[in-house]
Amino acid sequence: MTIVDPTTTTAWATLTGLKTAYTPDLRSAFANDPNRAATLTRTVGDLFVDLSKNLIDEHILAALVDLATECDVAGRREAMFRGDRINVTENRSVLHTALRRPKGDSLVVDGTDVVPEVHEVLEKIYAFADQVRDGQWTGVTGKRIHTVVNVGIGGSDLGPVMVYEALKPYVHDQIRCRFISNIDPTDLAEKVADLDPETTLFIIASKTFTTLETLTNARMARAWLLDALVATGAIEDTEEARTGAVAKHFVAVSTALDKVAEFGIDPANAFGFWDWVGGRYSVDSAVGTVLAVAIGKENFAGFLGGFHTVDEHFVGAPFEQNVPVLMGLLNIWYVDFFGAESHAVLPYAQYLHRFAAYLQQLTMESNGKGVRADGSPVTCATGEIFWGEPGTNGQHAFYQLIHQGTRLIPCDFIAMANTAHPAKDGDQDVHELFLANFLAQTKALAFGKTEAEVRAEGVAEELVSAKVFKGNRPSTSIIGPALTPAVVGQLIALYEHSTFVQGVIWGIDSFDQWGVELGKQLAMQIAPAISKDDAALADQDSSTRGLIEYYRAQRH
Ligand code: F6P
Repeated sequence: MTIVDPTTTTAWATLTGLKTAYTPDLRSAFANDPNRAATLTRTVGDLFVDLSKNLIDEHILAALVDLATECDVAGRREAMFRGDRINVTENRSVLHTALRRPKGDSLVVDGTDVVPEVHEVLEKIYAFADQVRDGQWTGVTGKRIHTVVNVGIGGSDLGPVMVYEALKPYVHDQIRCRFISNIDPTDLAEKVADLDPETTLFIIASKTFTTLETLTNARMARAWLLDALVATGAIEDTEEARTGAVAKHFVAVSTALDKVAEFGIDPANAFGFWDWVGGRYSVDSAVGTVLAVAIGKENFAGFLGGFHTVDEHFVGAPFEQNVPVLMGLLNIWYVDFFGAESHAVLPYAQYLHRFAAYLQQLTMESNGKGVRADGSPVTCATGEIFWGEPGTNGQHAFYQLIHQGTRLIPCDFIAMANTAHPAKDGDQDVHELFLANFLAQTKALAFGKTEAEVRAEGVAEELVSAKVFKGNRPSTSIIGPALTPAVVGQLIALYEHSTFVQGVIWGIDSFDQWGVELGKQLAMQIAPAISKDDAALADQDSSTRGLIEYYRAQRH
């Protein structure tokens, strides 16, 4: 694989020249071109994506598209969809797109058609989901399951919890889900505090089934369940009764089914996936089992369909029309030519309140890299800090800095035409008032308010500068019909592919995550020093030693 250095391309030189000559002026851009919004709006699946409030013109857009061409985004995209081992540092294929291929499709990788395997697992998940939903799957005392607790972290948590929250109106009315991820024992303690063990089912989700947090929480969940069942007399205090209870209250999701069996979960109650699914790309694999139970198989299939719609668009649409390609290119433009360091994602949809947290892993674990896929240093800035909160809450918190601060923060606004909860406040449709806020913010960011406009409002001269909005703060607006399973799948796939496009241009392996390893190793070395091992304590640096000594002095 040849990795192109983006900074040596002709397009990069062109973009550098264009940036130097460019004075952002969205007011004039819109005034001079009545078709600007139409020219710069794209559709993908159910989504209407307005790129017109970005700091681009036709020349910049053309040069960005040339950059994608010169960096062989098309070739890398084909390699990914074909199953080439593009995750070079782990020597793995990257095939999350195979998870949403329709039944009957075929994709042969290393001599195996992976699509039938995907659908075999899906059928198993759907049969399980049906059983839990219709009450056939019972706990050890014969009661139906009312709470499903997903225990996982990172990709085995963030996707499921984000989508569960996004699709709340689709959740079965007799089932609720909880998510335990943090090794802080508070997480488990709080999440199980009010649960009835007889009606609770745990899904232990871990791709590797070695993750410290998840296995610790899984063992604690098992102890909580068995102790409670024994204490209430629901089961006898025997090994056999305990094993029987685990079989009815624990299932697993993993690529390591041998380790699932070691933990004591019957492999018949385990849902597998493959090493070609990265953790942060796994919500549409068996990692979504909790979702299939919560929203049912038809809705889960609709969710997968949403991803597939965007996959087809990503593969088939010319770059100029290709929404994930354009979103990725815009991010390159802001990061590498404007020095933008962060990217705000601002959903005007309360149900998307975990979307930014989900995107943090997707984008930052993928593209937060300082070396390229061949081990050489990157040649330009990479990655962005993704963050955000739902509107309108963010408006009353951090939007001040986006509007009037000294940093350029590109924003993605996401809104839906319809709400699951239509409401009126007197004559005012509240969802419309909400949408008015979304539109107002994108407008204020783009066009600002000039000194003359501030003065025309009669503002005292000494306050004029404080009340000026410079504008030219870029945003993309993504609007869909409603937060359906398909739309949520489409939104995720959009960001998966725009992240991929950026990774290709930067020349990095977007599918490994070595940066999480050192902390894991050190935690295991430090753990003994914290509890009582004085020799291990003496080995620590003075800062770590001081902190541990403080802890030891304070602990009860
Ligand atoms: O944070 C590192 C990581 O490997 C993520 O990439 C992954 O999603 C998470 O840990 C959980 O891993 P697993 O699903 O194997 O428990």
